[in-house]
Amino acid sequence: MKIGIDQIGFYTPQYFVDMNDLAESRGVEPAKFTIGIGQSEMAVAPLTQDSVTLAANAALTFLDDEMRESIDLVLFGTETGIDQSKSAGIYVHDLLDIQPYARTVEMKQACYSATAALQLAKGHIALNPNSKVLVLASDIARYGLSTAGEVTQGAGAVAMLISANPRILSLENDSAYITKDIMDFWRPNYSPYAYVDGKYSNDQYIAFFNEVWEQYKGKANRSLDDFAALCFHLPYTKMGLKALRTILDETSDANQDRLQQLYEHSTTYGRKIGNIYTASLYLGLVSLLENSETLQAGDRVGLFSYGSGAVGEFFTGILEEGYEEALQKDTHRNIFVQREKVSVAQYEEMFTERLPEDGSEIMLSNENDPAPAYVSGMKDHMRLYTRK
Ligand code: CAA
Repeated sequence: MKIGIDQIGFYTPQYFVDMNDLAESRGVEPAKFTIGIGQSEMAVAPLTQDSVTLAANAALTFLDDEMRESIDLVLFGTETGIDQSKSAGIYVHDLLDIQPYARTVEMKQACYSATAALQLAKGHIALNPNSKVLVLASDIARYGLSTAGEVTQGAGAVAMLISANPRILSLENDSAYITKDIMDFWRPNYSPYAYVDGKYSNDQYIAFFNEVWEQYKGKANRSLDDFAALCFHLPYTKMGLKALRTILDETSDANQDRLQQLYEHSTTYGRKIGNIYTASLYLGLVSLLENSETLQAGDRVGLFSYGSGAVGEFFTGILEEGYEEALQKDTHRNIFVQREKVSVAQYEEMFTERLPEDGSEIMLSNENDPAPAYVSGMKDHMRLYTRK
């Protein structure tokens, strides 16, 4: 039985800051941000969007009533959780009107957790072929104003419906994975910002990729020639390219050109949104599928997932016949069309806004937020959510 991604949608808030403006304001040569890091724009979340609403809005790009009735497992991957106890997935389950007889849980391992969710979903469908699983990956990346990591922030979510006989990508079984206890990036419970050893994190990302790639080739008895395209976790678009370049000489010049061209397509959306941690790899996949004109059904796509701390996994999927028709290309294009550029000063103001932490009440208006699901306030230490 084939199991895999039947639907995939993303959402990003309507505000963004231009990286040329940010570079100018930080006294940095703009080419460092746009070429050296490879980011053109960075999504900025207003107070009315958090990891819950971003995830709900991503799922609303494709969810229909039949899916609402057949989803019996909701897995929410995030490192921007809103509560130490209650799963963010429960709020999304409610906002989306999913039938009540479902399991819902939040998962955490930095940017890797949505991949663990995908693999758990696959096992669940293997045992329950009529079930559908909603996998959500949602994050707001924050390193702090004027830090080295600032240029690699972002906000957004990806939602995926996992089912038997998927319309988009069927997942293969021979993935390779590794866990090692390292401190490259982490966020203590008391800090709104991530701590990171930037250069070390870059090196570990590549080392983990090389290790799982070698392991995969032995396990699956395949080579780079068996791949139409590779997608990477994209903390910034240059990062995946650095990793890809370490293995390119394993294939012909023509294949190298093709892989690099398709890599560029996988970065089109992320270049305008920034790092969305758990969702970045999957945003790269949507970007690849919606922007490439050469991929075809039957092609094998490789995916490298990396979550600092750290876990790495390389896994693969085969594009299904007619996959193009199952994509939400127009909806996604409209999300970008609706976006509004903000100045660095406006971004800094939004960046420092916080919901009350002392139990006081706030009601938020959505008049400037076109998203269907939004944070409508906070009362008695509880976030209030509304769906238009
Ligand atoms: N024109 C063109 N390129 C330029 C340039 C210019 N004028 N000036 C500098 N550059 C290039 C540099 O040569 C460098 O390129 P290479 O990496 O190819 O050598 C690039 O721009 C970046 O320059 P620096 O290394 O000097 O940048 P930095 O020290 O300011 O920080 C960073 C870069 C380490 C990525 C930092 O932004 C950071 O800490 N980000 C957060 C951590 C991160 O994203 N790590 C990625 C791996 S971990 C992971 O993937 C998990 C996760 O999601 C966090």
